[in-house]
Amino acid sequence: MEVIVQATPDDVARVAADVVAGVVARRPDAVLGVATGSSPVGVYAELARRVADGRLDLSGVTAFALDEYVGLPPGHPQAYAAVVARDVTGPLRLDPARVHVPDGGAADLEAAAEDYERALADAGGVDVQLLGIGGNGHIGFNEPTSSFGSRTRIKTLTARTRADNARFFASPDEVPLHCLTQGLGTILGARRLLLVAQGEAKAEAVAAAVEGPLTSMCPGSALQLHPRATVVVDEAAAVRL
Ligand code: F6R
Repeated sequence: MEVIVQATPDDVARVAADVVAGVVARRPDAVLGVATGSSPVGVYAELARRVADGRLDLSGVTAFALDEYVGLPPGHPQAYAAVVARDVTGPLRLDPARVHVPDGGAADLEAAAEDYERALADAGGVDVQLLGIGGNGHIGFNEPTSSFGSRTRIKTLTARTRADNARFFASPDEVPLHCLTQGLGTILGARRLLLVAQGEAKAEAVAAAVEGPLTSMCPGSALQLHPRATVVVDEAAAVRL
C-alpha cells in the first residue's frame, strides 16, 4: 500500500486528482468509482477546475457510486443519486447516461443489488475507486463485521454512522436505517483504490486501516489485500501512523 501524507486538505485533493487524471489520460473511457460524503468533495472540486479550464476531459468516463440510502423519499436532496448529480456529474461534465447509483428506492432491493453488480461487470469493472473512510473504519457503507468477500447488498447503518451523517439531514431521525452498498469484495475488484482522509477525527480509522491487523472490525483494513491501493491523507489524519 502506498501512503502519501500531505500538509493540507487542498494538497490531498490535488494529489488524488492527479491520480484520477492520470488514469483518464491513459484511458479516456475509464470507469471511475465515486464516493460521497465530505472526504472527496475537494477532489471533485479540483477535478472540476481542471475540466472547466480545459486541462481535463472526463466526458468519456463511466461512473459508479459506492452506495445509496434506502427509504428516502424520491428526489430527497441527500439521496446519493442527487448528491452525485450535484457534486460529480454536473461539475465534472460526465455523461449522465453513464453515471450509476444503486437504486435505493427499488421495490426489490436484492434484485437492485444484483443488477448493480451486473452493470459493474458489464462496464468492465472499475479502473480507479475513490474512497473515504468512516470514523469506525467503514468503506462504502460496509460497517464493522462486513465480510471481505461481500458483494453489493442491503446493510444496516450503525448508530455511529447515522450520528456522523446526521449533519447532512434536518434531524438525526431522518437519517435512514438501511442502505445498498457495494461489498468489500466488490470494492477490492477495482483495479486501483484511492482512499482520501482529512482531519484528526479520521486518524484512528486511518491507522487501523493502514497499520492495524486485517480484520472485519475495521473494513478499511481490506485495502491491505489490494495490490494497488493508495491512501492520501493530510497531516491531521496521519497523526496516529
Ligand atoms: C460514502 C461512503 C462512506 C464515506 C465515509 C466517510 O459514499 O462510501 O464510506 O466515505 O462515511 O464520510 P465523510 O467523507 O463524510 O467523512
